[in-house]
Amino acid sequence: MLVLAADSRSIARAARVLQRGGVVAFPTETVYGLGALAFTPAAVARIFEVKRRPQFDPLIVHVLNDAMLSRVVASMPHAAKALGERFWPGPLTLVLPKRPEVPDLVTAGLSTVAVRMPSHPVARALLEAAGAPLAAPSANPFGSLSPTRAHHVAAGLGDEVDLILDGGRAEHGLESTIVAIGSRCELLRPGAIEAEAIEAVVGPLDLPAAADSRAPGMLPQHYAPATAVRLVEPASVPAYERGSAAVLALREEFDGYAVSRRLSPAGDLREAAARFFEILHELDGLALERIDVQPMPEHGLGRAMMDRLRRAAAGRRL
Ligand code: TXA
Ligand code: MG
Repeated sequence: MLVLAADSRSIARAARVLQRGGVVAFPTETVYGLGALAFTPAAVARIFEVKRRPQFDPLIVHVLNDAMLSRVVASMPHAAKALGERFWPGPLTLVLPKRPEVPDLVTAGLSTVAVRMPSHPVARALLEAAGAPLAAPSANPFGSLSPTRAHHVAAGLGDEVDLILDGGRAEHGLESTIVAIGSRCELLRPGAIEAEAIEAVVGPLDLPAAADSRAPGMLPQHYAPATAVRLVEPASVPAYERGSAAVLALREEFDGYAVSRRLSPAGDLREAAARFFEILHELDGLALERIDVQPMPEHGLGRAMMDRLRRAAAGRRL
């Protein structure tokens, strides 16, 4: 497997790999993505193969600028323009009417497409060098934890990726917030931008019905580590249950556990989110019986983390 530091030479090389129909893992400001040319169905198909992702799950298309955006989306309603102006480039994904040229494989046959204009300099340089929109899900095997570092990608997907660009740690450490734009705006996935910040621009967001399957990232069992996850108040866990488990909390540490980690001693949700998947990866790697996680406050980024934790706690890896 080829892991290269993301300098201009390796980015140019990665663009050539993409143009030949290859798949490249690259850093974004949220998590690492697994990219292929969005308008080349055979290349997009490789993403599904490498991720072992069912083909009903649509992908996010990454664009460099408005010119690239207009190759992908059929129209930009007022709310989309306002959100794009405020949050792009950045960790916001909008679901919009698609242009007919966008392959069905990318959108799983939907009439809409999820698009995002990333801010990460390496992602942008790659889009510029490739000269075309890139379809890119998170670069992890389907259903498992999202990667926030190049070595997470290497461990999860290994040799099947043609090239991994190493750009260090993903800054936000949580996937983008996904908003569907229709007659009303719907929050399909809480993420790196707080729902409150989006509501400040477009007013109250609708929440999709629980059974809505349009964003399979919303499946109850998603983002799961191999180790069982339990959402529980650690102070109430008896001593005999602690020795074989790890505990993860926002600000506190707990005695008696095999390992105790905290996300942000100051209780800063942004700092916590940035370390969230990374610490889960690390605790998962210890092969303990269980990871006990203390529930977090359900506002701002705490809401996105609790969303991922509930899914992780709902079951095993898919
Ligand atoms: O931060 C992110 O968004 C990362 C980086 C790499 O950009 N990408 C990411 O992609 O998280 P992925 O594939 O792991 O999650 C994309 C989610 C999925 O849950 C998918 O079902 C949903 O977006 N999605 C894609 N197209 C959609 C559409 N047309 N309508 C509704 N949901 C859609
Ligand atoms: Mg994902």
